[in-house]
Amino acid sequence: MLSPASVLPQLLLRTQDAMSLLVRGHPQTLLRRALGTRLHSETLAIGLRRDLDCPFVHPTAKLPLVIRPLRSGDDLSILNIDQPELTSDVLFERLSQRRLINAGLPTCWVAIAPDGKVCYMQWLVAPSDNDRIRAQWDDLFPQLAPGEALLEGAFTGDAYRGQGIMAHAMSRIAVAARDFGARWVHTFVGVTNTPSLKGCQRAGFVPFQQRSEAWRLLRRRVAFTPLA
Ligand SMILES: CC(C)(COP(=O)(O)OP(=O)(O)OC[C@H]1O[C@@H](n2cnc3c(N)ncnc32)[C@H](O)[C@@H]1OP(=O)(O)O)[C@@H](O)C(=O)NCCC(=O)NCCS
Repeated sequence: MLSPASVLPQLLLRTQDAMSLLVRGHPQTLLRRALGTRLHSETLAIGLRRDLDCPFVHPTAKLPLVIRPLRSGDDLSILNIDQPELTSDVLFERLSQRRLINAGLPTCWVAIAPDGKVCYMQWLVAPSDNDRIRAQWDDLFPQLAPGEALLEGAFTGDAYRGQGIMAHAMSRIAVAARDFGARWVHTFVGVTNTPSLKGCQRAGFVPFQQRSEAWRLLRRRVAFTPLA
């Protein structure tokens, strides 16, 4: 059960996002994504993992990238929500990424494109931050054991997609989990998210479990099943 102290900041961030969707004219998205999902929905995701002890050659991207943790002052214009004519899905994706950044979850890694801008981001989380994972997502992820890490929140800026950035960046970010002693890096991807599933598999991740998330009248039930 989450404490009120960890629920409140999340609630505030989500309220801000709801307001952003409303003032930009997307009330249907707010209803569908925020309320409809929580009233009645089923979502399946695949859990994938990479064993850092297995030798792996990073896949190449079509452009040279610098991979490092996010720094204050980095150009995050890929998350601009005031660009004209953004579709509701794009706006929702950008708001979700901004919420993770604003939550201060450690550690947001980025890929910097040759134009100097952040083109990709993803969070690499250590077992020492299990409480932060819980505060952010409740029971959507299993507790990390020593030697494990979680990679979440993959996002490539719309203008940079389809250039192999995810696979290259994710592969290199995963290796950074060695710094806190991890061997196994875990990630979860919706079963219908083909671009992300492709990116994960090219980054050396192998499916090993399935997660089901069921919402009924604002209550969520999450279950994990090993894959054969
Ligand atoms: C998933 C995501 C990170 C992939 O990033 P990416 O850097 O474009 O990944 P890749 O270049 O390796 O492309 C992977 C696949 O995406 C598809 N794709 C998605 N958008 C594309 C675009 N604009 N142009 C070309 N291909 C695109 C292609 O099918 C490609 O597969 P292919 O190389 O076999 O054709 C990106 O689509 C994204 O940020 N999506 C929204 C957020 C999201 O779903 N995150 C994952 C949460 S688990």
